Amino acid sequence: MTTGMNSEAAEYQRLRNADIEHYIHPNTRLKTHKETGPTIWVKGQGSKLQDVTGRWYIDGMACLWNVNVGHGQRELADAATKQMAELEYASTFSGFGNRPAIELSERLSALTPGRLTAAMFGSSGSEMNDTAFKFARYYWLCRGKPTKTAIISRFRAFHGVTMGAMSATGLPVYWDMFGPRAPDFHHIDPPYPYRQTADDPAMTAEALEQKILELGPDNVAAFIGEPVIGGGGILVPPDGYWQNVRRICDKYDVLLIADEIINGFGRTGQWFGINNWDVKPDIMVMAKGITSGYLPLSACMVTDEVLEGLQSRPEDPPFMHGHTYAGHPTACAVALANLDFMEREGIVERSRKMGEYIQAKIKPLNDLPIVGNTRGLGCMAGIELVRNKDTKEGFPANWKVGPRVVGLVQDKGVILRSMLGDIVAMSPPLVVTEQEVDEIVDALGSSIEEVSRELATQVPA
Ligand SMILES: Cc1ncc(COP(=O)(O)O)c(C=O)c1O
Repeated sequence: MTTGMNSEAAEYQRLRNADIEHYIHPNTRLKTHKETGPTIWVKGQGSKLQDVTGRWYIDGMACLWNVNVGHGQRELADAATKQMAELEYASTFSGFGNRPAIELSERLSALTPGRLTAAMFGSSGSEMNDTAFKFARYYWLCRGKPTKTAIISRFRAFHGVTMGAMSATGLPVYWDMFGPRAPDFHHIDPPYPYRQTADDPAMTAEALEQKILELGPDNVAAFIGEPVIGGGGILVPPDGYWQNVRRICDKYDVLLIADEIINGFGRTGQWFGINNWDVKPDIMVMAKGITSGYLPLSACMVTDEVLEGLQSRPEDPPFMHGHTYAGHPTACAVALANLDFMEREGIVERSRKMGEYIQAKIKPLNDLPIVGNTRGLGCMAGIELVRNKDTKEGFPANWKVGPRVVGLVQDKGVILRSMLGDIVAMSPPLVVTEQEVDEIVDALGSSIEEVSRELATQVPA
């Protein structure tokens, strides 16, 4: 007779073999994956994920920074079931509408800062960043300024992987395999408080003004930035940075696009990251937390002023942009249920308070010999590992110090992620408990200690 344990192991083997043979994983070392194989998730509850062998892990990343209300919230699943039974999908091209998409755009208009008033929907963040660039260029065309096409973004920024979004992304590792990039995307340095002084042009946003002047204001359509850079290393800008960006954009007629794909929906302790600085963007892009990941959905919102511009052109041809799943009724119904849940349960306020707990909890990690800096805002945190704490010199990339730490953390039953420059990221579901945060930080601290002991005795080959 097969025991429960054996059948789980057999099921793992079956799926593992099929995975290696048939399935291409995103952002994965495809060659090594053939040896290591997948971790296969089968269930989620709150801040926890269970793999096919029955082991539970704490999901310290909310998967990809997106499962904000936690796994297994029944009412989001019920909203999908109900909508699917009524109207699973309908096109929104050529003026067709559906109730959830209309209600969601109205609701987002009330929730977002300033005069953001109208939304276009898609399925992924990358699609909607591309949409934001197209809106910006089309807006200037409509306003009689067709030369304003340049898009400025920042190094270390991640804005997605479609051709436009990839070209705005400021991490060369995303470019090198797929060049050439789309033309007319330009990069400036981001504020990086651990490595820059307060008067650095990157910290004051002067770098943006210099770039606009270099390109010529008549050629610049928009600046895009995440209020707090996520995938590029959890970079929290100094106070005043975003206000300066807004001022510079206004001065040179450049649209300000906030990429709220990670920051939005409570991650930083506010509904939107930009609210931390009370700045009002012209275009805002959101995804991930909009449905807490329960279904793919993204949105690009524009102000009434931008909308007016887009609506001002002669009718033919029509606005030639949009995706098949724009305004997908079931995805929008889930987003509405997600917002209901977040508002009723006070998830944003909870994130703010839990964020304070997380930031205080990671501070003592600074005492470890290879931790250079801990930082973050709300429920997003970064722990930067360095070879020399005095000079802030990092480790050689091929030592893979961050990935090694994250591997040990996973062995202890916690999922975290290592980013460029050996920065370990933490971004749990916003329903995470203090006890779970303690477990995450304990696993991280002991893993960093193990790796620093290893490094003290043996330099990696
Ligand atoms: C800030 C930011 N922008 C854009 C994207 C791209 O979103 P997607 O993967 O849904 O295309 C991501 C994804 O992680 C992101 O973190």
